[in-house]
Amino acid sequence: MAAVTLNTLNKRKTAGEKFAVITAYDSTQARLADQAGLECVLVGDSLGNVVQGQKTTVPVSLDEMAYHTQCVARGVRDAFIISDLPFMSYATSEQALASAASLMQAGANAVKLEGGAWLADTVDALVTRGIPVCGHLGLTPQSVNKLGGYRVQGREQSAARRLLEDAMELQEAGADLLVLEMVPAALAGEITQAVRIPVIGIGAGNQTDAQVLVFYDLLGMTDRSPSFVKNFLQSSVQQALADYAAQVRKGEFPHPEHTPA
Ligand code: KIV
Repeated sequence: MAAVTLNTLNKRKTAGEKFAVITAYDSTQARLADQAGLECVLVGDSLGNVVQGQKTTVPVSLDEMAYHTQCVARGVRDAFIISDLPFMSYATSEQALASAASLMQAGANAVKLEGGAWLADTVDALVTRGIPVCGHLGLTPQSVNKLGGYRVQGREQSAARRLLEDAMELQEAGADLLVLEMVPAALAGEITQAVRIPVIGIGAGNQTDAQVLVFYDLLGMTDRSPSFVKNFLQSSVQQALADYAAQVRKGEFPHPEHTPA
């Protein structure tokens, strides 16, 4: 596989070819994902849950994200690396620029931030300075205390309309990619059709341009995994990663049982 760039991901969207994303937190996970041919690795702040054993992603710091991004970057040859800006590291545009600089210098190819229209100026400031941005809408785990739990977002008509508007605003501000987490499959499909940028789903059905799963969930290593997760581990970690990527590309994963009703 040649080095994956935003161009590669945009071409896949245009051609209607799905791509696969997985989280990674260290160089071995990153190497395995890269060798299995996954297009992107996400250094997710989910490391707060699955690596640090925290209840939420809120305690994760920028220094920790930069450290794990460096580890992942050492294991990757071709995959595109997206790194999460952690809680309160992008409360203002100035802060977002400084925080994104640390992650890009640690080896990220893009940064991800959680939220809608209120982030338009911040997204514009980042992309204008050459930093690719991935938006994140739907269930935004950094806001779990405000949302009141990890549940499907956008079920009501007004909330669905707001999500679509947020997606359009992020795109117009210059976002290059968008993650949709735990939204009804039909809404995820509608947003995917409405925007030009590639949409990566998790717990959002199989009408998005790509899927992302947490590394430990995909291998059945987490204690209680969400209903949208499939355990791909049949014979080896390498085979599980390859099976995941193949099933995403063929549109076979997620199945209806991995899709919120
Ligand atoms: O932190 C993370 O792993 C994420 C994915 C669940 C999208 O943001």
